[in-house]
Amino acid sequence: MKKENKKLNSFSCTFPAKSVNEGFSRGIVSSFCSQLDPTVEELCDVKTAVSEAVTNCIVHAYKYETDERKKKIVIKGEYTENGCLKISVKDNGCGMENVEKAMEPMYTEGGEERSGMGFSIMKCFTDKLSVKSKKGAGTTVILKKYIGKANK
Ligand SMILES: Nc1ncnc2c1ncn2[C@@H]1O[C@H](COP(=O)(O)OP(=O)(O)O)[C@@H](O)[C@H]1O
Ligand SMILES: [Mg+2]
Repeated sequence: MKKENKKLNSFSCTFPAKSVNEGFSRGIVSSFCSQLDPTVEELCDVKTAVSEAVTNCIVHAYKYETDERKKKIVIKGEYTENGCLKISVKDNGCGMENVEKAMEPMYTEGGEERSGMGFSIMKCFTDKLSVKSKKGAGTTVILKKYIGKANK
């Protein structure tokens, strides 16, 4: 393993998919990311992207789920010596049949209240976005962003 890619820190956190936890998820990610000495803009970008992923779990993933105990979100984070921050947001909800379609700008299945811009925002505010989803099994969104002095 290359020295600059050595993993320096990580966390994992599981919490109920409730809108009251949107702010909580921004908080934990923000405080983890702060260890990389980000600019205000970098920190805002990470929080915004994570927020979109978490909101999707809350709004879309569990729309057919009736058992409250099953509505969980798992966020994991890690960063490496080269300042690469990786955050994954996972749900065990309904999943998506066609991820490519779902990721198109302005595509939404959420009705008039939703803009369909969540994935576009996640892409725009990070360096790499990958989405794994299986119909009926859930979705994992992985966001990567290079943070801090090492990359300036
Ligand atoms: N975690 C998820 N589980 C199931 N479906 C999802 C998830 N995230 C996104 N989607 C689907 O992808 C569509 C596009 O998401 P997004 O770009 O965030 O726009 P919006 O949330 O405004 O609809 C959603 O309308 C939904 O159908
Ligand atoms: Mg969305």
